[in-house]
Amino acid sequence: MEQDQTIKLLSGNAMPVFGLGTWLLNLDTAGTVAHALEIGYRLIDTSSDYGSQPGIGAAIRESGIPREDIYLVTKVEENDDAYRRTVSNLAELGLDRADMMLIHRPPIRGAGEDLWEGLIRAQNEGLTRDIGVSNYSSELIEMLIAASGVTPAVNQIEWSPFGRSQYMQAYRREKGIVIMAYSPLTRTRRLTDGTLLQIAGRYHKSAAQILIRWSIQSGNVVIPKANQWQHLEENIDVFDFEIDAADMRRLDSLDERYSALGSLPYI
Ligand SMILES: NC(=O)c1ccc[n+]([C@@H]2O[C@H](COP(=O)([O-])OP(=O)(O)OC[C@H]3O[C@@H](n4cnc5c(N)ncnc54)[C@H](OP(=O)(O)O)[C@@H]3O)[C@@H](O)[C@H]2O)c1
Repeated sequence: MEQDQTIKLLSGNAMPVFGLGTWLLNLDTAGTVAHALEIGYRLIDTSSDYGSQPGIGAAIRESGIPREDIYLVTKVEENDDAYRRTVSNLAELGLDRADMMLIHRPPIRGAGEDLWEGLIRAQNEGLTRDIGVSNYSSELIEMLIAASGVTPAVNQIEWSPFGRSQYMQAYRREKGIVIMAYSPLTRTRRLTDGTLLQIAGRYHKSAAQILIRWSIQSGNVVIPKANQWQHLEENIDVFDFEIDAADMRRLDSLDERYSALGSLPYI
């Protein structure tokens, strides 16, 4: 498995399986993202409410890496006009287009059908290559599909061995939707789990590296966040080993519907 490995989306477009999360990446966003790009990161996840878009845009523009080699994911909020927010996100980033625009979370009522229409328009006008959702249950995704005929390319949800669901895994496989795993390191809270550490020891890797590798081998896109350069470097160093089937099963068995954010937004 190579560092530049991608996964194919419903549209046929390719998406890197690994990238950088940027929520609370506030110390020196541009510097951290520049370093990430230098050491091989090619996917950056942000949102209009993270405050990181200007620094990310600057780092991308100044990286010298062709724009088409960097995958940029950003989001619109539940009360936005999704089309206009896409335009303003791009202005903040200083980029002509995104690669993936997501609805950050469903609104209190309905499934966000208006937001979805706005993203479909943005996609049709070339402002983003693909569109998807975040924090959606299968029922809410079904409502969007029923209203528009357009299936989200991804569902970005909290996902780790400690908190996930076989039901969502089966649903996304059936629909061809890719899971983008957020808080994949459980915001560090489960990094000292005994089983995880035992498996990490077997591969001479850290607990964080095992969680990232587990996500990739499970067929997901994974976006650990790291401010510290040592963490940035450690997290991308997961393409020189493979977790064997027995250890994948051991990791799978750790599920306790754990959520670092409070609760998983899906069944
Ligand atoms: N769509 C949504 O609603 C949603 C919700 C939550 C998150 N997200 C996205 O997913 C990304 C990742 O999730 P997250 O930020 O919640 O949590 P996370 O990636 O699970 O954990 C981040 C924490 O892990 C630490 N860390 C990183 N690498 C490490 C390593 N190798 N060893 C030990 N600790 C390490 C980081 O420390 P340092 O920063 O100090 O290096 C930080 O404290 C976010 O940044 C965001 O882009 C999306």
